[in-house]
Parts: sequence; C-alpha cells; structure tokens
Amino acid sequence: MTLVRLDEVLQDARQTRRGVGAFNVIQVEHAEALVAAAERTDLPVVLQISENAVRYHGSLAPIALATRTIAERSNASCILHLDHATSEPLVDEAVALGFTSVMFDGSRLDDEANRSVTRAVTQRCHAAGVSVEAELGEVGGKDGVHAPGVRTDPDAAAKFVADTQVDALAVAVGSSHAMTRRTAKLDLNLVAAIRDRVPVPLVLHGSSGVPDDQLAAAVRSGMTKINIATHLNKVFTDAVREHLAGHPDNVDTRKYFAHGRSAVTEEAARLLELIALRGVA
Ligand code: G3H
Ligand code: ZN
Repeated sequence: MTLVRLDEVLQDARQTRRGVGAFNVIQVEHAEALVAAAERTDLPVVLQISENAVRYHGSLAPIALATRTIAERSNASCILHLDHATSEPLVDEAVALGFTSVMFDGSRLDDEANRSVTRAVTQRCHAAGVSVEAELGEVGGKDGVHAPGVRTDPDAAAKFVADTQVDALAVAVGSSHAMTRRTAKLDLNLVAAIRDRVPVPLVLHGSSGVPDDQLAAAVRSGMTKINIATHLNKVFTDAVREHLAGHPDNVDTRKYFAHGRSAVTEEAARLLELIALRGVA
C-alpha cells in the first residue's frame, strides 16, 4: 500500500462529517501498533512524528524511514506526517524522505511572520505534492500558554487560510497539550462557527485531555483531524509498568515492549472507530 495524502483523506472525512485519528510515533513499536490498528479497523491513520521526537532520536531519518516502511508494507491507508515543525530545514528533509504531509507550526512567530513563512513553506510543499497543516493561535500546553483561555477567532482563521493556502488548520477551542486526565471541555459552538467560516479541515491538538463524548461531539461539530499522543503513551507505559511489576526478573525488552505495543493497538483501534463515529449514535 502506498502512503496517502493528508488533504485527500481529510477533505473526504470533512464532507462526510467523520474524523481521522492522528497519533504520534516516538518508538518503532508505536508505528507497528498504529498501523495494526488501522489494518484492524480498515480506517486511515495519520502517523505523525514531531520535532520533539526528532530531537529525542537525534535525527529524523531513522524513525521516519522505519515508520514509512511499516506503513508501505501494510494494507492500511497511512499518512506520514511531520508534527509541530518549527524548522524549515526539517520540513524540507521530511519532504525529501517521502512524508505526505507536514504541520508547520509558526504559532510562536508574530502574526505577519507566521503568515509569510507558512505561505512560503506551503508553496514549496505543494510543489512537491505534500499537504500542509498550520497553526494560527498557539494551542495550550506548549511554553506555558494556558489553553482554556485561548480561542481561535473564526474570521482570523478564514483570513489565515486564504493568505497561506494551507490544507488543514489547527485551532484553539479549549484543548491543551500533554494532559494526562481526560477532563477538557471544548467550545463546540466555536468549532461549528470556525468550520462554517474555514474551507479546509480543522485539527484538534492536545486531544489526550478530551473525553470520548467530547471527541465525538467535536467531530460532529466540524473537527476532522484528531491529534492524540500523551494518552496513547500513557496506555503504552501502563502496560509496560504492569508487566514489569509482575515479572521483576524480566530483562528482555521485547517482552515488555510487546505488551505496550499491543495495548496501544487496542486503544488506537478503539479511538479510530470513535473518531470516525463508527457505531456512535
Ligand atoms: O500534535 C500532537 C498532539 O497535539 C498531541 O497532543 O499529547 O495532548 O494528545 P496530546
Ligand atoms: Zn499538537
């Protein structure tokens, strides 16, 4: 199966008021688990590698090529996506490595710089057949920006998309990055208002803190790409912790990583179906 483009998958989902799961890959086991979930549910999955994960590994290529190979050898529809990239050279490297989409995160730049750099990155990526997601107002949880007060203005969002021609837009509607408890309360009326003004699919960042019913409601209100990282990391870690507690003499990483991997497959499959509103009244 070849990798698929973000813009095509998201536009189709937006038309049918469905959501698409976008889950972060840090270790190879994440990629194996997420692709297995996509195969099991026959739903597309966005495999996203963040700039922070690149810093952890020291470079992009090893984890990117491993993830790309796992995706290409599966029969699932996978998007290979660079997440929260602030570095233009890293974006260019991802394009060269065969990523099918990137998120250029200019949210910490001033407004004019964000627009101009995002526009330039989008032009380069589009010329290479790569989709672009961008961010207008910073979603909370990064550098102390406290999300609950941060909200994206629908008119500002529409102008940003017109100015930059991005394929998807991350918006601030009440979620916050890196929450370990699912207690966030989204502004669903704002999601609907932005969706009515913005012609491209919307992206919910920091979705680990959003409970199931709010995720489904956000998709129904107009959210399309649902980003989850911390929650799946917690699932992985809890499974590893439980196995190690019961097997204190185990020193074989394969034994406990396998438990983490299968726990993530189960939860990712459940989330893919929830986000796609499959079986959700
Ligand atoms: O871009 C990635 C997501 O926004 C991850 O956020 O770890 O809070 O789920 P999360
Ligand atoms: Zn994010």
